[in-house]
Amino acid sequence: MLKKKLKTILFGFGNFASGYPEDPKMKKYFKYCSHAQVLSSHKNFDWDAVVDPDSDKRNLAKKKWKIPIVVENIKNLPKNYIADVAVISSPSKTRMNIIQSLNVKKGLLIEKPIATTFEEVRKIKQICRKKKLITQVNFFRRVNKTNIFIKSKFLRRTFGDLQCGFCIYGKGLKNNAIHYIDLARMIFGEVCYLRSLTKFSKSKKINDYDNFSFLLGFKNNKEILFTHIDFKFYREIYFDVWGTKGRLEFLFEGIKIRYSSKKAHRAVNHFNELEIDKVKYINPQLGEEYYDMYTNLADSIYNKKKLVSDLNNAMSNEYIIDRIIHSSKNNSKLIKL
Ligand SMILES: NC(=O)c1ccc[n+]([C@@H]2O[C@H](COP(=O)([O-])OP(=O)(O)OC[C@H]3O[C@@H](n4cnc5c(N)ncnc54)[C@H](O)[C@@H]3O)[C@@H](O)[C@H]2O)c1
Repeated sequence: MLKKKLKTILFGFGNFASGYPEDPKMKKYFKYCSHAQVLSSHKNFDWDAVVDPDSDKRNLAKKKWKIPIVVENIKNLPKNYIADVAVISSPSKTRMNIIQSLNVKKGLLIEKPIATTFEEVRKIKQICRKKKLITQVNFFRRVNKTNIFIKSKFLRRTFGDLQCGFCIYGKGLKNNAIHYIDLARMIFGEVCYLRSLTKFSKSKKINDYDNFSFLLGFKNNKEILFTHIDFKFYREIYFDVWGTKGRLEFLFEGIKIRYSSKKAHRAVNHFNELEIDKVKYINPQLGEEYYDMYTNLADSIYNKKKLVSDLNNAMSNEYIIDRIIHSSKNNSKLIKL
């Protein structure tokens, strides 16, 4: 039986929600690259309201997307308006107030980072629990079919156990590295310890775009080093992990995924090598993740299916971020989790 569509309100109709109009190239790789695209076409959601203080964004919602209820702030919503689901894509500092004053019955989809401090993240979790809201946080790599294949099959067969890894990112620990912290946890399990290699003074106010170099330690003391580049020269988020059976590399933020497997060393007896000069590629199955995050949220609301990225998962990422900042402000102290 077809389920009733979930009445949905969207907070924050910025670039990501309305769809990077300046970047048509994205469409070539990602079928769905905005909340608007998913909400306007998803079988389980009925998108009928937008809240944004910016009048240009409100006009876009009214004229291009034909949204019936478009208001400047939450107080201006019609008195009897109650949504089933709220999507929150406004800046991280605004989320707590929105979630607190929100009239919503069933669920939330929140953008990352959830809030500006871990304290606020904890409060948001309490509010969601009190309001009994099923809450998905948009760590969309968890729903990507290739990542699921890597985790469930490829790892054991072709990669083996983690030996070490590297991640190059830019434009913020909280903004971008957080996705790869999540991916590393998804594939290799929980972080056991960490250390920031960047030192900041205790008084520094950290924003979403500050970069840090740091180490994450996994089971058996296997480490992944994260460090950063400046996207003004070129953009890349590169994740390179070395296993006991092979090496796996995510290039261009996952647009290309390649691996090198093990064979007898070409020049040294009694050793193996990785065929780094004969890499093979894995089909990345990109572009439907945003749609699938919504489907998973609807399945969880209708059928109690497990969320791929619930608040507990998001909180683990946010806690790691909080501890990296703490380490950076405490002389690069090693922190056990
Ligand atoms: N999951 C992902 O991969 C991904 C990708 C891009 C952005 N994001 C996240 O999405 C969020 C938005 O990013 P963006 O690039 O669209 O930013 P943006 O600045 O373009 O958009 C934010 C919008 O929120 C509006 N806004 C401000 N205060 C508000 C309030 N109190 N209520 C409602 N709306 C309010 C602003 O007017 C603006 O239109 C960020 O947290 C970002 O980290 C996530």
